[in-house]
Amino acid sequence: MKLGSLNLKNRYLLAPMLNVTTNPFRRFCRYFFNIGLVYVPMLYTKKIEKHPKSIETDLYKIERENPIGIQLIGSDPEALKKSIDYIESYKFETLDLNAGCPSKRAIKAKEGGYLMKDLNTLKILVKVAVKYSAKPVSLKIRTGFEISVNIKEMAKIINDSGIDFAIIHARTVKSNFHEHALDLDTVKRLKEKLTIPLVGNGDIINPISAKHFIDYTNVDALMIGRESIGNPEIFNQIHEYFTKGEEIPFKNDFALFRKYIKIYEDLIDDFLNGISYLINNEEIKFKELKRNAIWLTKNIRNSTPVRRDLSKVKNILQLKTIIERIE
Ligand SMILES: Cc1cc2nc3c(=O)[nH]c(=O)nc-3n(C[C@H](O)[C@H](O)[C@H](O)COP(=O)(O)O)c2cc1C
Repeated sequence: MKLGSLNLKNRYLLAPMLNVTTNPFRRFCRYFFNIGLVYVPMLYTKKIEKHPKSIETDLYKIERENPIGIQLIGSDPEALKKSIDYIESYKFETLDLNAGCPSKRAIKAKEGGYLMKDLNTLKILVKVAVKYSAKPVSLKIRTGFEISVNIKEMAKIINDSGIDFAIIHARTVKSNFHEHALDLDTVKRLKEKLTIPLVGNGDIINPISAKHFIDYTNVDALMIGRESIGNPEIFNQIHEYFTKGEEIPFKNDFALFRKYIKIYEDLIDDFLNGISYLINNEEIKFKELKRNAIWLTKNIRNSTPVRRDLSKVKNILQLKTIIERIE
C-alpha cells in the first residue's frame, strides 16, 4: 500500500512510544508480523541542536529496520532544520512531526500537542520539515486541543502542506489517553476532506476495534500503540482477521512467555553487540528485559504474584531465576 510516496507492505504501523518502542521492542513486534512501518519515539529538536550525539543510541542500527520513521518534536523552526540536517546521515524512510504529545513538559515548551492550538507555528514547522527533509514527511496530530478542530481549517493546512500523509490519534490533547474520549466522528470528517492518506490511531486493541475504526472513518491505515505492550502478536491477529475473517484469540501462558523472553533477550543482545561507547550494557539489558517480562505476563491467568516478584528483581540473574521457575 502507499502512504503518499512511501511504499509499505501493509497498512499497519507501530506507534512511537517513548521508553517503550526501542530497537529490540520494534524488532520483537516485527518478529511475529512484518509490520508496514515502525517508528523511533520522539526525539527533541532542542536536544539534537545542542547535543546531536545524545541521540546516537536511539538511532543505533536503525539501518537494519527499514522501513522505519523518525519522529521529531519541537517548536523552534531553526532547531528543527538543524535536527533534520543531522538525522539525514542515518538511514531511515520517513520523518514525522509530533503535534500530539499531551505531556506537561511538551505543553510548557509549546511543542507537541500545543501545536493543535498554535496552528500558525504548526504551519511554519511543517513547511520547514517539507522543505529540508529529503524523506517523505508526515504529521501526527490529535482531534483538537481542548475541543475538536475546525475540520475545514485543519484539512486545508494538511492538504496545502506538501506532506505525504497525516496520522491522527482520535482524541483531543486535553483528553490525554482517557478511556471513552475517542472521537471517530472528527477523524471521519477530516478524512472526507483530505487529499492525502490518513492513518488512524487510538484504542485499537483487537481485530474488532481495528475493523470498527476503518469501517467508521475510512482511514487508509492503522497505527497501534499500547496494545502491542505485552501483546506483540496484535498485528498478526488483526491481519488474519482482515484477510481470513478469523479471530485468533490471544493466548498466553508461561511456556509461551518463556519463548517470548528468549526471543526478546536475543534481540537485546543483538542490538547491544558492538556499541562501544556504552559502558552500562548490562544495566540497559536488565532494564529492557525486566519491563518487557512484566508486560509479557499480561493476559496470563493468575500471573499477579509473578508480576509482583518480577517487579522486585534487582539484577538479570534474579530475573532469570524467576522466569525459569514459574509454572
Ligand atoms: C508510553 C507512551 C509513550 C508515547 N510516546 C509517544 C511518542 O514518542 N510520540 C508520539 O507521537 N506519541 C507517543 N505516544 C502516543 C502513541 O503513539 C499513540 O498515539 C497513543 O498511545 C494512542 O494509541 P493506542 O491507543 O494504540 O495506544 C506514547 C504513548 C505512550 C503510552
